[in-house]
Amino acid sequence: MHTSSGRVLVVGGTGRTGRHVVSLLRATGVPLRLLVRDRARAEAELGPGLELVVGDALDLDLGPAFAGVDAVVSTLGSRDVHGGLRTVDLPATTRLVAAARDAGVARFVLCSTIGAVPTPGIPPHMLEWFAPKGEAEAVLRASGVPFTIIRPGGLHEGPTADPRMIDCGHVARALVAALTRDDALGATFELSNARLQRPDADPLLGARV
Ligand SMILES: NC(=O)c1ccc[n+]([C@@H]2O[C@H](COP(=O)([O-])OP(=O)(O)OC[C@H]3O[C@@H](n4cnc5c(N)ncnc54)[C@H](OP(=O)(O)O)[C@@H]3O)[C@@H](O)[C@H]2O)c1
Repeated sequence: MHTSSGRVLVVGGTGRTGRHVVSLLRATGVPLRLLVRDRARAEAELGPGLELVVGDALDLDLGPAFAGVDAVVSTLGSRDVHGGLRTVDLPATTRLVAAARDAGVARFVLCSTIGAVPTPGIPPHMLEWFAPKGEAEAVLRASGVPFTIIRPGGLHEGPTADPRMIDCGHVARALVAALTRDDALGATFELSNARLQRPDADPLLGARV
């Protein structure tokens, strides 16, 4: 892993996908900082020795968390499709993007979702649920911060053959790869087992949309 200052900030590192991201980045030796809501839980789940900034992305002064940060991976999510995506995911991501812009971050890798924008095969009620994820993507695209967006299908802990789903570990590998791949800059990818079957799909990042 090489970035200009090197330090990567992970938001959502205590989550299902974020834990894999943290583990992958740790193995590279890159300087790592995590924004977590609960220090004791983060240390219990991720182990000791990580640089932690403790607070909620909805109201923390994010300046110190972003100081000296070169790249960001956000797997932040509320898990609550009945309102939480609008009251948590969208405003928290908006704050993270503003902080990244102010800090001059060189790459913001955002984990979104398939269905964040109208997509064939996704029922209308789910498109309604996921719309705030699309709005958060739009905030990032408009910010001027160099970005990559990965939209996973349904997340699964471990391998699965379900075409609509994808292993969290695979998503984490894609998010980490997107930090440094030039061909991912400014791009959005959809990542599910079905998307990976598309003839033009990237085997790691999925289908470019
Ligand atoms: N679940 C799915 O099937 C699915 C499908 C497609 C896309 N996605 C998206 O993929 C991403 C990763 O999903 P996941 O299931 O791996 O996530 P997850 O296990 O639900 O973890 C979410 C992470 O976000 C953190 N978080 C939530 N609100 C926060 C806030 N206000 N401030 C700071 N941190 C906050 C959580 O911290 P705590 O540990 O403190 O709660 C946790 O670390 C999310 O963006 C999700 O919307 C999910």
